[in-house]
Amino acid sequence: MTKTIIIDKKIKNYNKIINVSGDKSLSIRWVLLSSLADGTSRAKNLLMSEDVTAAIAAIKKLGIKVNLHKNFCEIHGRGINGYNYKKNLKINAKNSGTLGRLILGLLINTPYPIKLIGDKSLSKRDFKRISDPLTKFGAKFKLKKNRNLPLTIYGSKNLKPFYYEEDKGSAQCKSAVIFGGMRVKGSTIIKAKKSRNHTELLLKHLKLPINVKNKKNYDLIKVNQVKKIQALNYEIPSDISSSAFFIVLTTLSKNSKLLIKNINVNQSRIGVITILKKMGAKIIFKNKKIYKGEKKADIQIKSTNSLKAINCPIKLNSGAIDEFLVIFLVAAKAKGISYFKDLAELNQKESPRLEWGAKILNKMGIKTITTKSSIKIFGNPNLDVNKNIIIKDYLKDHRVFMTSIIAALSFGGKWRIHDSDSIKTSFPNFLNIINDLKNND
Ligand code: S3P
Repeated sequence: MTKTIIIDKKIKNYNKIINVSGDKSLSIRWVLLSSLADGTSRAKNLLMSEDVTAAIAAIKKLGIKVNLHKNFCEIHGRGINGYNYKKNLKINAKNSGTLGRLILGLLINTPYPIKLIGDKSLSKRDFKRISDPLTKFGAKFKLKKNRNLPLTIYGSKNLKPFYYEEDKGSAQCKSAVIFGGMRVKGSTIIKAKKSRNHTELLLKHLKLPINVKNKKNYDLIKVNQVKKIQALNYEIPSDISSSAFFIVLTTLSKNSKLLIKNINVNQSRIGVITILKKMGAKIIFKNKKIYKGEKKADIQIKSTNSLKAINCPIKLNSGAIDEFLVIFLVAAKAKGISYFKDLAELNQKESPRLEWGAKILNKMGIKTITTKSSIKIFGNPNLDVNKNIIIKDYLKDHRVFMTSIIAALSFGGKWRIHDSDSIKTSFPNFLNIINDLKNND
């Protein structure tokens, strides 16, 4: 049930070890790829949040059996052509842009129209960025206002490959086209601005026909038709985006130390670490390993009392795209004026996040100057919030909720933060971990 969380005390110092839940991007990709594999795939540490259960519900609608056990999930794939397409199918992606966009790539050969719907937040987001490229394969789309959900996809039997220039730095657009390319005879070529590369790494790990050339500012990807996917047993590493809330909490609190275990530290995801370290945060990776093509490590964080502003290099944006709200909290406490630019994509997320970042900081008494794509944050190292703050009507954006909790615990004041059920999207265990850190036994 949705609740308002009241916080009126800063967190006390702590020294703890925590686990956060499985990575959301990897969980959704594992579900979708396993649904097309030959035979049974099993995953441990699969994120059990609404974005991922929506992915499971979607493949079930396509005729794929799924068994959820206490500590693992089993997906019984029926091969690359194993979907049982039926008339009048409707798939609900709920809040998940990743599910809604990636699954369309897999559906370009559907013999019957399929309707895709989502919640209020997802229905405001841009799906033309996916229908445009997938149309080039030969699929057709009908979208609300030519841009939004609900949409209907009309598949084709005569699919053809094409050359796609992905210029937004969107892993969702890139991945939808990679998934589409798996269904199409011939070579689909993608010139993609840098973004997270989990899809490419998973396909490579599965020995599927993908070839990636990493250039300085973009990646050149070639995908060929896939005939067979082997079942994939996977222990999903934990999510750096979920860890980011605790990395920032520890950085901002006094005399605290935290170890977060077993985190996916793929190079295309660790922008938050690079940015915070440049600002003076004390973060180190321990126990580094490679697992099925992905890097993982434990992350150790210690508090610091000397943070400095950053003029954030644009090249770090894509690797930190989901973490800017919490990064802005660090900028609020840093000495000097921080500048983050070329971030128009932030306003395309579950809520207009650049706007929400500024709103939260302004409520705390921090001055900001924003444009449609940038924010300047006038930091105050002595920031001590001493007022009532209410956070509501934010389209239940999970990251706005969690950022507000971290702000309240770090800077003080009396906060009323609405809609706690927003965390079910990506991190249902978030408040339990907060409580664990508060109980300093
Ligand atoms: C994701 C890609 C990013 C990110 C989202 C997850 C993914 O979105 O913001 O939370 O798993 O591919 P874009 O691809 O739209 O940048």
